[in-house]
Amino acid sequence: MRITKFTSELPAVQRGKAIEVQVNGRRAQAFEGELISTVLQAEGISVFGRKHQTGRPSGIYCGMGVCYECLVTVNGAGNIRACQTLVADKMKIETEAQVKP
Ligand code: FES
Repeated sequence: MRITKFTSELPAVQRGKAIEVQVNGRRAQAFEGELISTVLQAEGISVFGRKHQTGRPSGIYCGMGVCYECLVTVNGAGNIRACQTLVADKMKIETEAQVKP
């Protein structure tokens, strides 16, 4: 979910150009300048993967590129940090969230 209504207490959000990406095979709207993690969370996805040893969920943890908890697959390339990678038009983003442990 993105902020769409503004109050006088919040400054207006300046968004980049609207683009379209694919998230787990479904079309999704994004904006230039957004991180992959932002788009995934806007799509309601907070679990990006599962720990191989325990099956526990992983997703945004540090939000600054240190923990590697937010790895996703982008255009077929794995191990991309969603919190450090900007979206691009027609990008294909895949999470492991749909895979049951
Ligand atoms: S959330 Fe820690 S590296 Fe992305």
